[in-house]
Amino acid sequence: MSTGKAHEPRTTPRNNLPAPRSSFVGREREIEEVKRELAITRLLTLTGVGGSGKTRLALEVARDLVEAYPNGTWLVQLAPLSEGELVPKAVAEALEVPERQGEPLSDTLAEVLRDRQLLLILDNCEHLIEAIASLVDLLLDSCPRLRILATSREGLGVEGEIRWVVPSLSVPEQGRRTLSSQELEAYESVRLFVERARGRDPSLSLSPHNARAVADICKRLEGIPLAIELAAARVGTLSVEQISQRLEDSLKLLTGGSKTQMAKQRTLRGALDWSYELLSEDEKKLFGRLSVFAGGWTLEAAEAVGVGGGVKEDNILDLLSGLVEKSLVVARGGEQGDVRYRMLEPVRQYAREKLEEGGEAEEARRRHADFFLALAEEAEPRLQGPEDTMWGKPCEGARQSEGGSLLDTSERRRGRASLTPRGSSRIVLAHAWTYGRGQEVAGGSLGKGWPGVGGSKDKGSGGAVLADLRSVGPRSSGSGGPSSDAAKRRSRDR
Ligand SMILES: Nc1ncnc2c1ncn2[C@@H]1O[C@H](COP(=O)(O)OP(=O)(O)OP(=O)(O)O)[C@@H](O)[C@H]1O
Ligand SMILES: [Mg+2]
Repeated sequence: MSTGKAHEPRTTPRNNLPAPRSSFVGREREIEEVKRELAITRLLTLTGVGGSGKTRLALEVARDLVEAYPNGTWLVQLAPLSEGELVPKAVAEALEVPERQGEPLSDTLAEVLRDRQLLLILDNCEHLIEAIASLVDLLLDSCPRLRILATSREGLGVEGEIRWVVPSLSVPEQGRRTLSSQELEAYESVRLFVERARGRDPSLSLSPHNARAVADICKRLEGIPLAIELAAARVGTLSVEQISQRLEDSLKLLTGGSKTQMAKQRTLRGALDWSYELLSEDEKKLFGRLSVFAGGWTLEAAEAVGVGGGVKEDNILDLLSGLVEKSLVVARGGEQGDVRYRMLEPVRQYAREKLEEGGEAEEARRRHADFFLALAEEAEPRLQGPEDTMWGKPCEGARQSEGGSLLDTSERRRGRASLTPRGSSRIVLAHAWTYGRGQEVAGGSLGKGWPGVGGSKDKGSGGAVLADLRSVGPRSSGSGGPSSDAAKRRSRDR
C-alpha cells in the first residue's frame, strides 16, 4: 500500500555547516578513519597543535555525514566564548533550543535532545575544557542517540572519549635529490602551498626553478596547514625562494591571515599565544627550556634541562605530559621501546622566544651542554675500541646518547660556547660513534665550529680527529668541563 510519501522530495536533514571558502586538500585516509571512529564512539575529539587542521577536518567529515543524522548536524563555535558559563547558551543557540524559565539551560538541552539523532560539532574547546566536559557528560548520559565530534588542542577527559590526533599534511622527505614537480605534487603540503599561492599569483606553478624552495618551505613548516597558508600569503610580495630563506624566523614571517579571522588564526604567533596562555606557570617554564633541544629528547634529558626556578625534577614527567596533552609537544615511541619527544619546528621557535624573554636561555643551554657532556663521558670507554667499531655503522641502542642533539644547526653553536675543548671533543666523538658519522668527523665537517675539535696541525684528517680524541685524556683530571648534574643523576639511576 502506498503511503504517498514516495513522491515527497527528499530533503537533506537540517544543518548549520558553513559552505567552504577555500579548496580542501588531501586527507582522504583521515576522513575515512574519523568516520570509522565516529561510528564506534559517541565522543570523538580531534586534537593537535594550533592550525593543524582540526576544525577543517571536522567540517569536511560533518559535511559528508549530513545524511546520516536525521535530526541534523550542528556546529557550535566555542573559540569566541570567554566564560565557561556561556557554553550551554552557545549550544542552545546553534540548535535553536529556546531557554525555559526557571530551568537550567543544560537540563533543557538534555531534555530536548533526549530522542534526537544528531551530530554535534563542538569546535575549539581547549580554553573552556571544564565547562564543556560537564555539559558533554550530561548530554551523553541523557541522549543515547547523540554523537559529538569535538576539536580541541587538549582532550576533554570525559569517560568514553576517543582522542584522535590530526597529523600534519604530508611533506617531502629529507633527501639530497631535488624532486621533480610531479613528484612534489604527491605531497599534500606542497599542493596546499601551491593552491593558496595561486590565489596571490595565478601564474605561479611548480617548476624546476622553484621546486626546491617549495619543498623546503613545506618541510620547515612541518606540514602545518595554517603555517603553509600564511607562507603562501607572502607570494606576490616575496619570491618563493625569499620566503624559504626567511623561514629561519617563521613567527615574524607568518602574519598575513584574513582580516575577518580571530587573532589566533591570523598569525602563527597568535595561534601559539592562544595555547601558551593556557599553560600553568611551571608548564610555561618547561616549555621554554625544552626549546634547546633541536632534535628531540627523552624524559631523562627533559629532567636534566627542565629543573630549576621552582620546577622540581619529580614534577617534570607531569609537566611534560601536560605539554603533550595540550599538543605543544609530540611524543613518539622510539625504536627501543622508549618514548621520544619533540616540538614541531615553528613551535620550537616560539618556545625559544619565550625562553629568551624569560632570561633563562644561558642557563638552559648550559644544562643542555652538561647533560650531553655527561652522556659523552659515559660513552667514552667505548670510544677507545678499535677504529672500525668507532667509525662503523650507527650503533643501534645507543641513540639514547643523543650527542646529535647538540650538532648540526647554528642554534646549537650557542650551546657549545659553554663547553671546553675537552667537553666538545667528547660530544662530537660520541655523536660520531652513535650515529655512524665517523667519516664526517674524519673529513673535518662534523667537528667544525667546536672548540678544540680538529685542532691538530693536520686538521681535517681522520688522524687529527683521533689525535683529538686521544688528547682528551682521563675525564677526571682537570678537564674544566662543567660539573655534570646529569652524570650524577644517571649514575644514581642505575
Ligand atoms: N586539508 C586542508 N586543505 C586545505 N586547507 C586546510 C586543510 N587543513 C587545514 N586547512 C586550512 O588551514 C587553516 C588552519 O586549519 P584549522 O583552522 O582547521 O586548524 P585548527 O587545528 O582547527 O586550528 P586551531 O587549533 O587554531 O583551532 C585553515 O585556514 C584551514 O582552512
Ligand atoms: Mg580550530
